[in-house]
Amino acid sequence: MWMSTLARVARPALQRSTSAVACQAGRACRRPGHAAGPLPSRPTLTHVRGQQTLVSASPPEARQTSAQARQLLITDLDIHSGIHSVEVINDNKVSVVWPDQHTSVFDAEWLKKRCFSSAARQSLQEELFLNERHHWDSELRIPTGDFQEVLRDDEAALAWLSALRRVGIVCLKGAPTERGQVARLAERIGYLRLTFYGHTWQVQDKHMANNLAYTSKKLSLHTDYPALHFSPGVQFVHCISQAVEGGESEMVDGFHMAELLQREDPEAHRTLTSTLVDFTDTGRDYCDFLLQSKKYIIEVDREGRVQRININHATRDSVLDLPVRQVQPFYRAMRAFADIMNRPENLLDYRMEPGDMLTFDNWRLLHGRKSYVTGPDSSRHLEGAYLDWDEVMSRLRILRKSVNKRA
Ligand SMILES: [Fe+2]
Repeated sequence: MWMSTLARVARPALQRSTSAVACQAGRACRRPGHAAGPLPSRPTLTHVRGQQTLVSASPPEARQTSAQARQLLITDLDIHSGIHSVEVINDNKVSVVWPDQHTSVFDAEWLKKRCFSSAARQSLQEELFLNERHHWDSELRIPTGDFQEVLRDDEAALAWLSALRRVGIVCLKGAPTERGQVARLAERIGYLRLTFYGHTWQVQDKHMANNLAYTSKKLSLHTDYPALHFSPGVQFVHCISQAVEGGESEMVDGFHMAELLQREDPEAHRTLTSTLVDFTDTGRDYCDFLLQSKKYIIEVDREGRVQRININHATRDSVLDLPVRQVQPFYRAMRAFADIMNRPENLLDYRMEPGDMLTFDNWRLLHGRKSYVTGPDSSRHLEGAYLDWDEVMSRLRILRKSVNKRA
């Protein structure tokens, strides 16, 4: 059974799409046989005509193109198309007859969701991308679920992924304490992300380690792999065995920290969102590698919303591509950000137990580890893997569709 924390944090994300749909459909529906209200503006008609070969928007005889994709070429589209007639027909369908007498039948709800109003666009974007996040600090009780249940039950899997998106971290309990479990979980999504560290990787204290993670030393808060221009979106870490002494995990909500930095030190925030920083990683694992990348420490979109955090002091390059006058302000900004993250009220401590599978947002969370003691009777072994958000969100949307259909 799902523990209450996961159900509670996942629920808003699960419910939002259906309530938004109901709200919009309520405004869209008119009685069958009655003409619809004012005709939409010309650009809207062009847009809708361009959509007519989509399965959900097409009459039955035009459906089921195997690719489920638009066939109409932009060069064949009359961008000044008007409309001959429109009416609401049976089952809340909207029939549009175009000037060339072609008829398109749309589902009213489908049409209404594509309304160009700000509210409708915002609602649909949220339904598609679930960008609303729940920020947290050291008080967070990490949402938990059952590993086996997630593998076999769609509702449990949907609750897991919804919480992962919203909170950024979920711990699945009860995974067998042997290798191969991160790959099993990745198969539940689709496939995992291959990197130079292999399909999966073993976090252990290794002789001649090619990564600081493969030692027993403390790891400061970081995101994984900013040396890749497209760093992995999601990380699975499975605890097979834990050290007797030390090895506790530390985590912080990077999106929340960026918000605090913007509020408390706007100059530092500006520096970290506008300075490209060099990262590098070199060595041999899956094969040999010599990576170079340039990243903003805090990546924001056009509206200034944080999209990704890129921090890894181990792989931040000694090359700093800045005029000398910007070097000190850059370090000051980095230090200000680090000081906020390391405040006890922001830093979450968690000790993984054998069988725990931590799943977390690598674009958002920073994670670290306390040093640990190794010995003949004590070995710490975690197995990890990466996925990307595209694949995770794809599975989430498919699960949401199937679970909602059954409800
Ligand atoms: Fe890491």
